[in-house]
Amino acid sequence: MKLLIINISKLLHVEDQRREYKRGQELGDFPITENAWLMIENGRIHSWGNMEFGVPALKIKTIDAEGGMVLPTWVDSHTHLVYAGTREDEFSKRLHGKSYEEIANEGGGILNSAKKLNAASEEELYEAAANRLDELIRMGTGAIEIKSGYGLTTEGEMKMLRVARKLADNFPIPIKTTFLGAHAFPAEYKDNHEGYVKKIINEMLPAVAKEGLADYVDVFCEKGYFSVGEMEEIIVAAKEYGLKSKLHLNQFNALGAIERAVALEALSVDHLEIIEAPQMEREAYLSPPLEPPLWDVNRNERYDEAEMLGNSNTVCTLLPGCSLFLEIPYAPARRLIENNAIVALATDYNPGSSPSGNMNLVVSLASIKMKMTTEEGISAATLNGAAAIELSHELGSIEKGKLANLIITKPLNSPSFLAYNFGHNHFKHVLINGEVYE
Ligand code: NIG
Ligand code: FE
Repeated sequence: MKLLIINISKLLHVEDQRREYKRGQELGDFPITENAWLMIENGRIHSWGNMEFGVPALKIKTIDAEGGMVLPTWVDSHTHLVYAGTREDEFSKRLHGKSYEEIANEGGGILNSAKKLNAASEEELYEAAANRLDELIRMGTGAIEIKSGYGLTTEGEMKMLRVARKLADNFPIPIKTTFLGAHAFPAEYKDNHEGYVKKIINEMLPAVAKEGLADYVDVFCEKGYFSVGEMEEIIVAAKEYGLKSKLHLNQFNALGAIERAVALEALSVDHLEIIEAPQMEREAYLSPPLEPPLWDVNRNERYDEAEMLGNSNTVCTLLPGCSLFLEIPYAPARRLIENNAIVALATDYNPGSSPSGNMNLVVSLASIKMKMTTEEGISAATLNGAAAIELSHELGSIEKGKLANLIITKPLNSPSFLAYNFGHNHFKHVLINGEVYE
């Protein structure tokens, strides 16, 4: 099966050599073939060239891009796509002045979603998640990660992961799953954190591993949730089952988790809205400045979490949709890039803190609010997203042999237009395994 795409105004390769990820300055720079054709064979990228030097004269199925650009599909490496019910009631409380934290303390938030999830059947969950996933693919997402974390019981967590695995069986895009039993402490363990951590390690992890339901493990390390020590215990225990970690860190507070996550070779650290930097530089990147300061002002001036990340192979996954929705600071993307970090972008799609799975909006927000160039945003949302779920050998750039999961845009002159004309649909076709997704 062959397919030819012709009249591509710009073919965005995203990388110029086979590499797992791009770090620092590399993100902003990738080759572009102007006025291109692209050939797909058996669902994979076969070859490409400039139209002026001749188009393969084959009688095969052809799509005329009519001056649209072609780029790899988005890789959304952080989502909570499987959930029951929605939480617009909490949103409305926030509009009336309540904070996300206050709502969570009243039994809302993650515990609210957990109650709904445990009451829902596997079939209901699958149906709702499948509808969401179908919509996301149409918006350009060609691979995704899905977390558990709204069960908080062994059965509930396994139910979520089974639904995610079933999505992987029935949908044509790669799907990775992450066990997030350590998302919040269930009410019955409110005063027995040690008991719940033990349950995660001794009961949930073995059960999840036995059925092969998870590719990774995650912990929400935050004040009022899991401590740095508890996070470490869970990461170490999960390693025994061959599960690497992808972690929720530094969303509201810098607790020192980054240093430990890097030391334990986390695959990715996600959120990073608040990271510690040498004192002098903190105010420069915290916008708007937080009152009162959340960092320990007595700490060593040289304690620089961006530098630690830049010196590591851990992917920094930034989630600007969450910052937009919760009105919290945006992660300091420029600082991370200056420090040579591997920056990825994802949606964090979930019913509480980021009820949108639109990667196009994420790429726009990365430019508008985090000052990433569109090229950096595209690299972060494709190749580096793929790296964050160990799929960059298959996806994330235009390379011979990679899966032909591609976006054909409407006629556009420059990549910047994608971020600039935010909130609009710029896509004409989404191709999955070389076929138009319908
Ligand atoms: O990534 N931060 C923790 N977990 C989710 C939000 C969960 C929720 O509010 O339901 C997040 O933002
Ligand atoms: Fe999340």
